[in-house]
Amino acid sequence: MFVYGGLTIRTVEESDLDRIRLLRNDPSTWKMLTTIGFIDAASQRAWFERIQTAQDRRYYVICDDDSDFIGIVRMDEIDPANRSIRIGADIVPGLRGRGYGTRIFTLLKKHCFDYLNMHRVWLAVLEGNEPARRLYEKQGFRVEGRYREAVFRDGSYHDYIIMSLLEEEYRKQ
Ligand SMILES: CC(C)(COP(=O)(O)OP(=O)(O)OC[C@H]1O[C@@H](n2cnc3c(N)ncnc32)[C@H](O)[C@@H]1OP(=O)(O)O)[C@@H](O)C(=O)NCCC(=O)NCCS
Repeated sequence: MFVYGGLTIRTVEESDLDRIRLLRNDPSTWKMLTTIGFIDAASQRAWFERIQTAQDRRYYVICDDDSDFIGIVRMDEIDPANRSIRIGADIVPGLRGRGYGTRIFTLLKKHCFDYLNMHRVWLAVLEGNEPARRLYEKQGFRVEGRYREAVFRDGSYHDYIIMSLLEEEYRKQ
């Protein structure tokens, strides 16, 4: 587990699976992601088995003293040669807009730059996801570019925006 700023990220346990599935299948979550397939218990079980041994991605549960399940964190596209990693987080609907996202990304930056020794931390966000974009900008992530009209959602195409934060920029924060 990693603890910072009153938050903890810990490994995913079997007992978390129902809550993760509920969060992932909620329309307010999947509409913001690229893959929109709903997850059933059997396919989630297979996913849980796969992540035990995966070298290029990690998943963690976020918790604090008040809640043992605030949401989940993804760390994937882990590239040790180039010291690059992609991060992301989903918070349970009832806990959004309370500053958890800000605290989680503060923790993730600390973890990625000061412990995993990453050089570039990046993420991808749908152009219409204003809470997420605002959060990432405030956390110092800069737009690198965009996949134009890459995601079809709610009857129209949306750009998929790539943002990153470099080690030097993080050190200056
Ligand atoms: C994106 C997400 C992780 C942000 O977490 P959060 O805990 O809601 O974020 P915070 O409370 O720290 O707020 C971050 C910023 O977004 C703004 N914000 C929050 N909810 C908002 C809303 N509904 N509309 C517009 N802005 C909003 C906040 O005002 C804050 O900016 P501010 O500090 O200047 O006020 C969370 O909303 C979430 O899980 N969303 C659904 C899944 C998702 O979009 N995942 C990310 C995919 S890229």
